[in-house]
Amino acid sequence: MKKRIAVLTGAGVSAESGLGTYRDNGGLWDNYDPMEVASIQGWYRNRSKVLEFYNMQRAKLADARPNAAHIAIAELEKDFIVDVITQNVDNLHERAGSTHVVHLHGEATKVRPENCCNDDDGFSEKTVFDIGYGEVHLGDKAPNGVQLRPHIVFFGEAVPKLEEAIELVAKADILLIVGTSLSVYPAAGLYRYARADAPVYLIDPADVPLFDNRIVHIRKVATEGMAEFVATVRA
Ligand code: OAD
Repeated sequence: MKKRIAVLTGAGVSAESGLGTYRDNGGLWDNYDPMEVASIQGWYRNRSKVLEFYNMQRAKLADARPNAAHIAIAELEKDFIVDVITQNVDNLHERAGSTHVVHLHGEATKVRPENCCNDDDGFSEKTVFDIGYGEVHLGDKAPNGVQLRPHIVFFGEAVPKLEEAIELVAKADILLIVGTSLSVYPAAGLYRYARADAPVYLIDPADVPLFDNRIVHIRKVATEGMAEFVATVRA
């Protein structure tokens, strides 16, 4: 029987595709205030600003391609049951061929009316739809007549896919973490649900605050680190 791998990814896995990370030097949050462009308070304060920010993210994504790390993660499916749990709002895992991707923080290519997919409707995704790399502006309405918003989990909002992610980490035989500073909770605490006997690998060129002494830290960029990881699990 195939073993299960849960792969928890962050912005670092897409860095070599030309998409900047958030917290590295020169990262997105050096140039934008996340509380203005990616929080629920920011949305109510200035919807246009938030919409423009995500229009820009979509445009960047249109020009980006999956890199060798996304592809290596997708190819793990030949030998393993693979659940990708990503904090990324890009679609590079899917474009590389991964067939099961849980987007903890939403998806940049999707939008929804601002009054749906929340506590009131049990986070139903019935009204969510794909706009690809298109733009959304103030005044653009959903079929229900309500302003469209990005299908993003803003700071200050619940993370509806958290329970699903916890279950996937808890049943994995191996946990692999790639390119995340683990600064944003609850995603940052997910690794603590790994089974006591499951090996945990981390691929990141920098130190990451992981409090678990079984962790094998592959201190490399994602493309090189994935090559090393694949060689290790195949050995
Ligand atoms: P961060 O920008 O916080 O962290 C990026 C991580 O990637 C760091 O640990 C870097 O060392 C590492 N890194 C950089 N280049 C790399 C490379 N080529 N290969 C591998 N690793 C590399 O990004 P996240 O941890 O993903 O949320 O941030 C988490 C969340 O914070 C995001 O999902 C986003 C953000 O605010 C929302 O917008 C809701």
